[in-house]
Amino acid sequence: MIRRAVYPGSFDPPTEGHLNIIRRGLALFDELVVAVATNTSKNTIFTPEERAALLKSLFPKEKKIRIDYFHGLLVDYVREKKASVILRGIRTMSDYEYEFQMALANKSMAPELETVFMMTEGRYSHISSSIIKEIMRFGGKGKDMIPPLVETALRKKLNS
Ligand code: COA
Repeated sequence: MIRRAVYPGSFDPPTEGHLNIIRRGLALFDELVVAVATNTSKNTIFTPEERAALLKSLFPKEKKIRIDYFHGLLVDYVREKKASVILRGIRTMSDYEYEFQMALANKSMAPELETVFMMTEGRYSHISSSIIKEIMRFGGKGKDMIPPLVETALRKKLNS
């Protein structure tokens, strides 16, 4: 049986922290579906298609990764993809509370699915997509926080 996991997120934009979880997730699963989702509480600057395209260009040759985007409930999407695991990264205790709530809500809707948490590596625990957008809006650089091609796309978007 193929061990397929879905790694959902807003990825607005994808950061080195996200990429770290993806790379480590690849060691655990046969297939990893990285899925750009809609988080209704967030105002995103990239469209889901643009975020998926950025992720695709970061992993051009990785055969175990599928990049996709979806609207609607995560559990419906995970079932549709015939995956059994939801992969999420946790940075801080405040992440933990939010993730705990989401995992329990998902478990109540889809008891057969498991959420697997990975501790974000310490060097990425201060990173968030919002912080990066803020830094770049005020002329700072995304070095070590986002890959160069994401930085270029973000700069273009912020200047448009
Ligand atoms: N390292 C560094 N930063 C990280 C990270 C890591 N490993 N993993 C996440 N982050 C940051 C992100 O940059 C992001 O920052 P931001 O808040 O400034 O944007 C934040 O942590 C979390 O974002 P991310 O993991 O990209 O997505 P999210 O928390 O917005 O995702 C969904 C939530 C999409 C999974 C959730 O809203 C969802 O499932 N939506 C579908 C609808 C649904 O089913 N809702 C019911 C859920 S119970």
